[in-house]
Amino acid sequence: MNTVVNGLLFVHLFAAAMGVGGGIAMSQVGPRLVAAPAEQRDIWWPLATALTRISLIGLMLLLVSGPLILWLKFNGPAGLGGWFWAKMVLVAAGVVAIGVMEGAKARFRRGDEGAGRVLHAAGPLIGAIMGGVILCAVFAFN
Ligand code: HEM
Repeated sequence: MNTVVNGLLFVHLFAAAMGVGGGIAMSQVGPRLVAAPAEQRDIWWPLATALTRISLIGLMLLLVSGPLILWLKFNGPAGLGGWFWAKMVLVAAGVVAIGVMEGAKARFRRGDEGAGRVLHAAGPLIGAIMGGVILCAVFAFN
C-alpha cells in the first residue's frame, strides 16, 4: 500500500508541476496572443492550445490523485485542520477561475475581443490561487 500511496504522491506532485509549468508558459504566450493583430493569431494558437492541454491534464491528475491519497493515507479529511480546508476552498476557486478562463478563451477565439480583458485578469489570478494551494498543502501536511 505504501508503494501505491507514494506512486500517487509522485503523480500528484508531477501533475502540480504540469499545471504550474503550463501556466507559467501561458503567462508569456497568452498576452502575446491577445495583443497580436487578428490575422497573426494563428501563429500563437497551436502553442497556446498545447500548453493549455498540459495544464488541464495536470489539473485532472491532481483532482484524481488528491482524493485517493486523502483516503488511502489519511483515512479521509477528519484528522486534518484548517490548512487542509483552506486548500480545498482554494482548489474549488481555482477550478472555477480556470473554467471562466477557458470560456473566455473560446469566446476570444470566436472573435469576441472583449474576452481578452478576462484573459488578462484571469491568468495572474489563477497563478495566485495555485500559489495559495501549494502554500496551504505544505502547511497542511507537514
Ligand atoms: C490544484 C490542485 C492541487 C494542487 C496544486 C496540490 C498541490 C499539492 C502539493 C504541492 C502537495 C505536497 C505537500 C507536501 O507534501 O508538503 C500536496 C499534497 C497533498 N494533496 Fe494536493 N494539490 C491539489 C489538489 C488536491 C486535492 C483536490 C486533494 C484532495 C481532495 C489533495 C490532497 C492532497 C493530499 C492528501 C496531500 C498529502 C500527500 C502526502 O503528504 O502524502 N490535493 N498537494
